[in-house]
Amino acid sequence: MHGDLEPKKVIALMSGTSCDSIDAGYCEVYPDKSVKLIHGINYSYPEHVRAKIFQLFRGAASIKDICVMNFVIGKCFAEAANVLISEFGKPDFISSHGQTIYHYPFDEKIDNISMKSTLQIGESAVIAKETGCMVISNFREADIANGGQGAPLVCFADEMWFKGKGKNFAIQNIGGISNVTVVSRDYQTFGFDTGLGNIMIDYCTQKYFGKSYDNDGEIASSGVVSDNWLECLLQDEYYYIDPPKSTGREYFSAEYIENALKYAPEKPEDIVATVTALTAKTIAQSYERFVYPNTGIDEVVVCGGGAYNKTLMRMLKTYLPGHTALKTCEDYNISNNFKEVMAFALLGYCTYYGIPNNLPCCTGADKRVILGKVTY
Ligand SMILES: Nc1ncnc2c1ncn2[C@@H]1O[C@H](COP(=O)(O)OP(=O)(O)O)[C@@H](O)[C@H]1O
Ligand SMILES: [Mg+2]
Repeated sequence: MHGDLEPKKVIALMSGTSCDSIDAGYCEVYPDKSVKLIHGINYSYPEHVRAKIFQLFRGAASIKDICVMNFVIGKCFAEAANVLISEFGKPDFISSHGQTIYHYPFDEKIDNISMKSTLQIGESAVIAKETGCMVISNFREADIANGGQGAPLVCFADEMWFKGKGKNFAIQNIGGISNVTVVSRDYQTFGFDTGLGNIMIDYCTQKYFGKSYDNDGEIASSGVVSDNWLECLLQDEYYYIDPPKSTGREYFSAEYIENALKYAPEKPEDIVATVTALTAKTIAQSYERFVYPNTGIDEVVVCGGGAYNKTLMRMLKTYLPGHTALKTCEDYNISNNFKEVMAFALLGYCTYYGIPNNLPCCTGADKRVILGKVTY
C-alpha cells in the first residue's frame, strides 16, 4: 500500500481472445478513478509468435511451448511498452493483463481438491527488466482463489465510469468473446460473458475470404441470414446458463466452429451474415433472459472491435427493444479500441494502492479482494 491517492501515469498492456494485437495505452489515472488515455497503440505480434499463440489455443502445444511462449510474449509486451516509453517517458508502473491462453472457470476435481483455473502468460519479470518499470500483472488469479471465475474484470471500471450518469446502461464489449456490464440506477452492478463476439466471424472470414476480419461488416452485409442455421446455433447450452458465467476459446474453439459449419448454408457470405447475426442475437437474448428480469436498460454502449462492424451494430439495433438507444464508448470519450486497456490501468492503480478491485457480483467471488501481483 502506498499512502494517499495521487494521480499516476500507467502503461497498460492487454491482448484479448481475438489476439489481433497487443493493445498498449499510456494512461493517467486519477484518485476519483477516472482514466485519461494519453496515447494508445495496437502493437502487432510478430507473425510467427501470433501463429504459435493460435497453436496454443488449439491445444496443439507442449509444456515446452507454453514455457517458451511465456517469456517470448513477455518480451513482445515489453516492446509494446517501450514504444510508448520512447515517446512519453517512463510511467509510474506498468499494468499488464497478459495473454490468456486458457480459461477454465469450472471446478475440476482431483482427489479432494476442486479448483477453477485460468492462465495468462507474458512474464512480468521480462517486462520489468526490459522497461525498467515496476509491473503489476496476473489479475485474475486472486478472484479465482476466492471462489470467483476471474472474469469479467472490466465490470469494475464500467461501474466507476458509468454509475451516477442517471441512466440504466448495458456496457457491451464485443471482443473475441462478448461481455456485458449492467450499470443500473437502482440495481447492483452485474455482468457476464454473453458468448461469442468476433471469434466465429473472424474464423469464417479467414476460412472463406482469406481475411483476418470482416472489415466494417461488408461481407456480412452482402449475405443473407439463414434463419434455420441461426436457430440451430442459438440452441447452444452456454446461452441458457445463469450468470455469473464466463467463457473463451476453450469452449468456442476451432473444433466447435468446424462442427457448426457442417450445417451451414452454401454461400460463404451467407455464413458470415449468419454468424454476425448470431453474435447480435445472443447479446439481445441474454438481456431478455438475465437482465430485463432485474432491471430495464435505457442505453446499450458498445465497445471493443465489434463496435466497428456496421452490420453487427445494425443487427443488434433490430434485435433490441425499440426504445433502447445504441451508442458506442466513443460517445462517452472512451476509445472503443482502448477501453479494456484503460480498465486495466485502473485495476493496476487500485492494486498499487491496495484497493479491492474485483466485483463479486460479476465474477461470483466470495468477497472483494485486491487483484494482481507486483514485480519490481
Ligand atoms: N473495422 C472493423 N470492422 C469489423 N470488425 C472489426 C473492425 N475492427 C476490429 N474488428 C473486430 O474486432 C476484433 C478485435 O476486437 P478486440 O476488442 O480487440 O477483441 P479482443 O479483446 O478479443 O482482442 C477483430 O478481430 C475484428 O473481428
Ligand atoms: Mg484485441
